[in-house]
Amino acid sequence: MSTGGIPDKARAILAQRRQYAQITADRHMKEINDKIPEIARLKAELADTGSELVRTVLANPHNIEAAVGSLKDKSLALQEKIKELLIKNGYPEDYLKEKYFCPYCDDTGYVGSRKCACFTRLVKQLSAEEMNRRSPLELCDFQTFRLDYYPDTAGQEGISPRKQMERVYQYCVRYAEGFSLKSASLFLFGGTGLGKTHLSLAIAHAVLDKGYHVIYGSAQDLFRQVEREHFGKDAADKDTLQNLLDCDLLVLDDLGAEFESGYYTACLYNIVNSRINAQRPTIISSNLDSEQIQQRYPERIVSRLLAVYQSLRFMGKDIRQLKAAGQ
Ligand SMILES: Nc1ncnc2c1ncn2[C@@H]1O[C@H](COP(=O)(O)OP(=O)(O)OP(=O)(O)O)[C@@H](O)[C@H]1O
Ligand SMILES: [Mg+2]
Ligand SMILES: [Zn+2]
Repeated sequence: MSTGGIPDKARAILAQRRQYAQITADRHMKEINDKIPEIARLKAELADTGSELVRTVLANPHNIEAAVGSLKDKSLALQEKIKELLIKNGYPEDYLKEKYFCPYCDDTGYVGSRKCACFTRLVKQLSAEEMNRRSPLELCDFQTFRLDYYPDTAGQEGISPRKQMERVYQYCVRYAEGFSLKSASLFLFGGTGLGKTHLSLAIAHAVLDKGYHVIYGSAQDLFRQVEREHFGKDAADKDTLQNLLDCDLLVLDDLGAEFESGYYTACLYNIVNSRINAQRPTIISSNLDSEQIQQRYPERIVSRLLAVYQSLRFMGKDIRQLKAAGQ
């Protein structure tokens, strides 16, 4: 994915909802102005009351309450009249009001300084869609995972790729079935096109279906997003890292394919370490084997990855190529 753009996408959707509510209210206003001129007149009077209110407050800084009281009554009476007229003409009484999708935050995504539940829901929904987006044509689930792609003759490893992948597959199916916050963390490694992303997405989908909060993304995309937010200006936009640390299951795909950067390494350490300490399961997949991991990442990351994570080794021939060749 890129949980990458997901908070941004969520904000864009909220902005669209807000705009829609405002445009609809404007359209209704024009319609009513034409059809019920009396309401237009009352609206103008209401606006006058508003500016009068401001003037009154400025002029009577010591006796605001008394001055404001009568204007408030006036404005309430005007609003009441408008409602009555709307109803009399066959419109709902709130016809001129902006109708926001979310009544709690008026589609701003925030209630005070706190994130509104609608925002969190939107982010979850978008993450789920993002998982499906990767390969819309071929669903990455357990049903579409085939074992006959893997050669059934044993190589130097002493076990045939098919036998090995049967074990890996069974492990993943059971892992997904029995997922809980106490589940192990997994390290999926092996050559390109062997089904690591396919199986991690299959697990992600299954766990998501159970109602857990799952984040899936490539290491490159997720780290880049964290970095962007870290150095960005808006304090409210810095929740990707927190989500990566807090979510029930994090699937970090393609570790080792990201640019080499001290910031990313620090980020990886933080994620791996914090999630182990908080007992949150993580699935990491990589083209690198344990030796290459040791070469590329500092010992404090490697020791955690290799000792704490359950390793699953992928074997076989590049299935991406097999499929492209029509097999
Ligand atoms: N066992 C399988 N059965 C059916 N399709 C598979 C299987 N394994 C992989 N595929 C398909 O082959 C393609 C490549 O698989 P995938 O992306 O999972 O490989 P990968 O191990 O993640 O490779 P990389 O290391 O390059 O990321 C995908 O389209 C995937 O759906
Ligand atoms: Mg992959
Ligand atoms: Zn809301």
